[in-house]
Amino acid sequence: MNAWPPFTVEVHASVRELAAAIARRIADALRTRPALVLGLPTGRTPVHLYRELRELCAAGLADFSNAATFNLDEFLGVPPAHPGSYRSYMERHLFRHVNLRRENIHLLDSGAADPILECERYERAIRSAGGIDLQLLGIGDNGHIGFNEPGASLSARTHRTRLHPETRRANAALFGGDWRKVPAEALSVGVGTILRAREIILIATGRAKASCVQRMMEGPVTTRVPASLLQLHSNVRVVLDKAAAAFIPPRGRPQSAGAGEARYPRRSLRG
Ligand code: F6R
Repeated sequence: MNAWPPFTVEVHASVRELAAAIARRIADALRTRPALVLGLPTGRTPVHLYRELRELCAAGLADFSNAATFNLDEFLGVPPAHPGSYRSYMERHLFRHVNLRRENIHLLDSGAADPILECERYERAIRSAGGIDLQLLGIGDNGHIGFNEPGASLSARTHRTRLHPETRRANAALFGGDWRKVPAEALSVGVGTILRAREIILIATGRAKASCVQRMMEGPVTTRVPASLLQLHSNVRVVLDKAAAAFIPPRGRPQSAGAGEARYPRRSLRG
């Protein structure tokens, strides 16, 4: 029998509505726990969410003054000020617009002389912040979370990793459209560290994500689909637009045309 706790699934009619709903949830969490420790992704998916958070903050409805953030990953060897670095991305989309204190913003150092020591430092920093309260995640078309790429094994903790060609292609826009300029290596928080977060919100939008969302939710727990390891966590909210929810069976989807929420009963655990 399947004794695994279900995902909570939320399907929204539009990306804008999805972003606004998550931003409100984060603003509420900040009100309940001003010293919230957030884990943050980059990429195309959270761009609208970060815009909503900027607006809430400007309107005085989201207060980051006591919060802390830890980004999931960073390219290796890219100068921090390079427009393609995830640090630059975060500055553009969120950090320079909200009232986070500089000392509470944490990113992996892409220029670290010793990447292994840098990964250890990051793990220690997460631990001394008390762990991640709310981890936001995107998902790669190949099922990666953070830069935990599909493979025969996964690293539990923050580590140095080699990016798959499809991941480099997906990030080409940050490097003038040329995927060969996207670094081949990165630093990433590990799956074990992600799974220790108290609450996880995974966001996926667009038809291209429908298949990996389905494999994450319905497939076996396997390192070949790193996001499937989220089935091991008891507090994961999967927030989708309709296109990304295309392959989720109707029983797991809200009936309403607009936003809705459903507990998602997994059928079985295979593999
Ligand atoms: C980036 C990250 C990645 C992305 C994923 C989806 O910090 O953690 O796992 O979330 O590659 O990227 P987009 O949103 O561009 O489709």
